[in-house]
Amino acid sequence: KRVAILISGGGSNMLALVASMTTDHPARPVLVASNDPAATGLTRAAALGIPVAAVDHRRFGKDRQAFEAELLQHIDAAQPDILCLAGFMRILTPGFIARFEGRMLNIHPSLLPKYPGLHTHARALSAGDTEAGCTVHEVTAELDAGPILGQARVPVLPGDSEDTLAARVLHAEHRLYPAVLRRFAAGDRSPCFL
Ligand code: GRF
Repeated sequence: KRVAILISGGGSNMLALVASMTTDHPARPVLVASNDPAATGLTRAAALGIPVAAVDHRRFGKDRQAFEAELLQHIDAAQPDILCLAGFMRILTPGFIARFEGRMLNIHPSLLPKYPGLHTHARALSAGDTEAGCTVHEVTAELDAGPILGQARVPVLPGDSEDTLAARVLHAEHRLYPAVLRRFAAGDRSPCFL
């Protein structure tokens, strides 16, 4: 299976996914693309020999369709079977999602359905949660709400700040996303819980 990965920043989840796609894996990375030409993940992917592309969403103002049309040129050229959103911070239109329905994954830094959207760690802390984590789900038109493919739980520790909790969750993301992609690429959509 051919995997394209969309990023917006450092791409630590992208790197974890790429590192997991060894020769015995049913998938391999064919493109890393970003909405930000300055995303350091692009340099890291290029250093690994992976084709990269950047489409600066700020060039398109409010015209999401035009931004996505240009992004799709790069994606379609790579002919991916699976699209992985990994720290990708742009909302995609229903039209784009429809193109990849059933084969587009996202990782979200909370135990969905709790805390869809942003600032998940601050919300968990202010709610006094003793547990947090991350979720890999299929992307559907409703934000952060598609079928869950996997979750990893981490403890919230006394004295945790947003940063210490974020770091613990990010570490779990780097374990969960590769585990889910390996199953998904092999045709197994049963959810896994770490
Ligand atoms: C992190 O906040 C992570 O929790 C979320 O996207 C952000 C950046 O991740 N999934 P990455 O290092 O760019 O993969």
